Amino acid sequence: MVDDDNDAIAATRHAHHDDGDEDVDGAHDDGDGDGDGEFEHDDVVGSDRHARMPKVLPTIPPGPISWPAVFGRTAPLECELGFGRPHFLLERAVEVPDHDIVGIEWKGRWPKAVWDKQRKNPQTLGGLSNLRAVHGNAWLLFGALFAPASLSLVVLNFPDPWWKAKHHKRRIVSDSFATLMASRLAPGGQLLIQTDVASLLEEYLARLEAQPGLRNTAGPFRLAEHKPVTASSHREKRCRRDGVPIFRALLTRS
Ligand SMILES: C[S@@+](CC[C@H](N)C(=O)[O-])C[C@H]1O[C@@H](n2cnc3c(N)ncnc32)[C@H](O)[C@@H]1O
Repeated sequence: MVDDDNDAIAATRHAHHDDGDEDVDGAHDDGDGDGDGEFEHDDVVGSDRHARMPKVLPTIPPGPISWPAVFGRTAPLECELGFGRPHFLLERAVEVPDHDIVGIEWKGRWPKAVWDKQRKNPQTLGGLSNLRAVHGNAWLLFGALFAPASLSLVVLNFPDPWWKAKHHKRRIVSDSFATLMASRLAPGGQLLIQTDVASLLEEYLARLEAQPGLRNTAGPFRLAEHKPVTASSHREKRCRRDGVPIFRALLTRS
């Protein structure tokens, strides 16, 4: 188990996902006792547990990436952090074919689901050629992947709440990550956060609104008046289906 005094990176590597998040088959975590949430049973190949190799290796970019070189064009660049089941990513890629979308997710099965879809449907890539799914820890990758002032939209859909007090340090919008997110937004760029946990949004807004150059479009600690995208995440759909209130904030970079 993780030593509580370890640094944040170690904590994220060993983080136990106790928020009720479902895996692809509806099961929880890999059950191997470490609760790491990174490599799950069906992310590895081979029956000998000592010989098993991950099917999906973490993406380790040399950073900052030239996204115009990756996508073969210059277009508004967007990022979804912790995309999980890739409903939002796939829908957003179709919604804005003239934008380029990058998703970061540390559970290997979800980037792999996107890669499989792209590989299996080469004829229908129309809406998906503007999409890249990256496997890894957003805390480590976000600053490396994106140059300062390069993103037109950052989306955080239903971030893990990490309920236990001793796990609060794992909440994705730390003070330093708030500063990093603000720095990667282009002037006029937007940051959308959606959650069903009002107290989590309040905590994140306190950090984000404290960033010079970041402004809540609805006023301090106010919910967004509109949702600036049509795409919906898996959690968002489930909340709507179950009548669970969604708390949404939209910030913009000056
Ligand atoms: C509660 S789920 C929400 C999934 C999806 N955004 C949705 O709305 O349906 C949170 C997701 O964030 C991912 N996640 C949490 N911390 C992360 C990190 N530091 N880097 C990458 N992914 C992360 C988790 O693996 C999980 O898939």
